Amino acid sequence: MPVIMPIYGTRPEAIKMAPIIAELQRTPGLECFVTVTGQHRTMLDQVNQLFGITPDHDLNIFEPGQSLNEILIRTISGLDKLFAVNRPDVVVVQGDTTTSTAAALAAFNCGIPVVHVEAGLRSGNPLSPFPEEGNRKITSQIASLHLAPTETSRANLLAENIKAENIVVTGNTVIDALLTTVQKQLPFVDPQLEALASSGRRILLVTTHRRENQGEAMQGIGRALARIAAAEPDLTIVLPIHRNPAVREAVLPYLGSAGNILVTEPLEYGEFTRLLSLAHVILTDSGGVQEEAPSLGKPVLVMRENTERPEAVEAGVVKLIGTDEDRIVFEVDRLLHDETHFKSLAEAITPYGDGTAAQRSVSALKMIMIKLERHGTYL
Ligand code: UD1
Ligand code: UDP
Repeated sequence: MPVIMPIYGTRPEAIKMAPIIAELQRTPGLECFVTVTGQHRTMLDQVNQLFGITPDHDLNIFEPGQSLNEILIRTISGLDKLFAVNRPDVVVVQGDTTTSTAAALAAFNCGIPVVHVEAGLRSGNPLSPFPEEGNRKITSQIASLHLAPTETSRANLLAENIKAENIVVTGNTVIDALLTTVQKQLPFVDPQLEALASSGRRILLVTTHRRENQGEAMQGIGRALARIAAAEPDLTIVLPIHRNPAVREAVLPYLGSAGNILVTEPLEYGEFTRLLSLAHVILTDSGGVQEEAPSLGKPVLVMRENTERPEAVEAGVVKLIGTDEDRIVFEVDRLLHDETHFKSLAEAITPYGDGTAAQRSVSALKMIMIKLERHGTYL
C-alpha cells in the first residue's frame, strides 16, 4: 500500500493537518504515517491530544530559544535518517513554518514527492511575514502537488509558472477543524474563563506572536491593551499568551493588575474556538485566527501592515490596522461604540472554505498517487 507521510511541527500546522490525517485514516488503500518534528512542544502536543493523533515518529527537536537555522538543521537531519529506514511514497507538508519548508527540502533531496497544503498564499513582502513568505515560496518551487485554499492562492501560483494541472483548489482545512471543534463547546479548564462565559460580559480576544512584531511594536500592543482596559471597565480582555519568552517580555509588563485583563497560558484548541465564538471583537496578528473568525461572524482587527490572506479583508470583515498604539486603541473603541461599523465587520462569511477541504485534499492526493503508479513520477 502507498505510504503517505504528513510531517508537521507547530500548533497551526497540527490544527490544519488534523482533518487531513483523519481523512487519510478513513481512506482504504492508503497507509498514513504521521511524523512530527516537535518544533513546538506543549503547543503541538495539546493539538495532537485533542484530535487523538499519536505520531508514528517524533523528531523531538524542540529547544528553548531555538534559532530558525537550528530548527532547519535538526529537521532535515532527523528526516534524512528517518527516510533511510522508513521511506514514504509521498510527504505532505502544511503552510509556511520552518518545519514545513525543511521537511519539503528533506523529501525533495531524497526524491520523495511533496504535497503542499495551503499553497500559494503571498504577501509580496519577503520581510512580512518573516520568514514565512520566503518559506512558502521555497516550498512552492519543490512541491509536486499544490493544494491551494482559494482561487486567489491558485492565481498566485499560476503567476509563478506553477503548472495548472498540479494545482487543486481545496479550501482551507482550518475551517474543517474549526467547524467540528467549535460545535462541541468544550468546557474551560480555567474557572475564571467559565465564569466569564456565563457573565455575558463583552470579550476582546487578543493573540500576538509574529516575529516582525516582537520588540517595540509588541510593547505598543501591551500599552494599547492597558489603555483599552482602563477606558472600558465593562469589557474583559482575554490574552492567551504565546509561549515565546520574547512575546511575554514585551507585553506582560504593561498589563499590571487590571481586573479586566485575563492572561492565560495558550488554550487548548477546543477552549480557544469556544472563546472565539463568545468574543465580541478579535485583535490578532495570527494567520489562522484571521481565517477562523470570519466564519463565526466575528470582527477581526489585524495588527499587521499587510496580509497573505486578502480574501476576508476584501470582503470587509477583517481590517488591517498595523501596530501603532494609538491606532489600535482607536479601532477597538470604534468597534465597541459604533454599531453600524461593528455590524459591517460582524458578517459571517467563509472565504476560506466550507469544512470539506480535507476530503478534497485527499481526493487530489489519490489522483496523484494513480499518476505516480502509472508514470513513476508526477513532477
Ligand atoms: C512558529 C512559526 C510561525 C507560526 C507560529 C505559530 C516559523 C519560522 N514560525 O513561530 O510561522 O505562526 O509558530 O505559533 O516556523 N515555545 C515554547 N513551547 C512551545 C512553542 C514555543 O516554549 O510549545 C517558545 C520557545 O521559547 C521557542 C519560541 O517559543 O524558542 C519560539 O518558537 P518557534 O517555533 O521558534 O517560533 P514561533 O514564533 O512559535
Ligand atoms: N489557537 C489555539 N489556542 C490559543 C491561541 C490560538 O488553539 O491559545 C489556535 C487558533 O484557533 C488557530 C491557531 O491556533 O487555529 C493559530 O496559531 P498561531 O496564531 O500560533 O499561528 P499562525 O496561524 O499565525 O501561524
